[in-house]
Amino acid sequence: MSKAPVRVAVTGAAGQIGYALLFRIASGEMLGKDQPVILQLLEIPDEKAQNALKGVIMELEDCAFPLLAGIEAHSDPLQAFKDTDYALLVGARPRGPGMERADLLAANAQIFTAQGKALNAVASRNVKVLVVGNPANTNAYIAMKSAPDLPAKNFTAMLRLDHNRAASQLAAKTGTKVGDIRKLTVWGNHSPTMYADYRFATTNGKSIKDLVNDQVWNADTFLPTVGKRGAAIIAARGLSSAASAANAAIDHIRDWALGSKGEWVTMGVPSNGEYGIPKDIVFGFPVTTENGEYKIVEGLEIDAFSQEAINKTLAELQGEQDGVKHLL
Ligand code: NAD
Ligand code: LMR
Repeated sequence: MSKAPVRVAVTGAAGQIGYALLFRIASGEMLGKDQPVILQLLEIPDEKAQNALKGVIMELEDCAFPLLAGIEAHSDPLQAFKDTDYALLVGARPRGPGMERADLLAANAQIFTAQGKALNAVASRNVKVLVVGNPANTNAYIAMKSAPDLPAKNFTAMLRLDHNRAASQLAAKTGTKVGDIRKLTVWGNHSPTMYADYRFATTNGKSIKDLVNDQVWNADTFLPTVGKRGAAIIAARGLSSAASAANAAIDHIRDWALGSKGEWVTMGVPSNGEYGIPKDIVFGFPVTTENGEYKIVEGLEIDAFSQEAINKTLAELQGEQDGVKHLL
């Protein structure tokens, strides 16, 4: 017997990440090849954006995806989020050349307050929310604080792109396959301060730390390469990452919904005080997922270098949080 469709809301649906994301959701790559979906797409009311969204919808129709049970176009979050089971909050203003993401905080705070309120009012009471739009951790925090009737734990931010970037760099460094890497994580903010941590990671069962055995490479090459990858892509493309960002969003929701089978993945989730991160800060942590729930991997040793890196990314997040306090 076929499953009942689930509702997936995507904001910024006519943007570049949207274009790389929607077709993969509709083909079953995110929620499984047996799970029909209804897409509830949100764009700003602007005529150009709504027209672009119409074009994307025509293309979705022309793919004739068997799992695509419905498509809706909206300009009002109260309609787009109605009864939604998943909400992928992508729509935001992307960073252009020379801009720091902190500059975008105020403009985006407004968007995520309104969207958090709308989710609170009309979404499924179990809605799983992924914030992609930058600054992603703080936007997730704002949406969570604006939705007091929904479980705070269901508001997450995307650190998976950083995780995937780190895995790829480590595979190249160790001459192994990216799919053989386990127990990698990225702590903190989706920003250049994030701390990609391979101290516990293995490839083909061997310790990556032992294989690399080079703290100078870690500090001077690996961390800056992963941390500044977004800026490097903007410099090269003139546009921020889109296909890799969409891919990370698919990975994030798929693992959350369908389980990580014991493997560690990185999610930005509200802290409950783990590793000394103050409650409610949306922070990148190693998690495992099962039955639609994630669990932070606890009890990892934090050495002095790691503690310093974690303190730095935490301080940045607290600064962002202070910057939006008056809006909440
Ligand atoms: P884009 O400009 O191509 O598309 C964004 C779309 O969002 C536009 O079509 C715009 O009209 C729409 N939009 C803006 N405000 C909206 C609102 N209030 N409601 C609904 N739609 C709205 O940008 P993009 O390249 O798709 O990137 C989207 C966001 O994702 C940016 O903030 C970017 O910085 C971020 N990003 C995050 C990561 C990550 O790893 N977390 C990676 C890449 C990009
Ligand atoms: C990325 O990491 O590619 C995005 O967050 C874009 C950016 O602004 O860095």
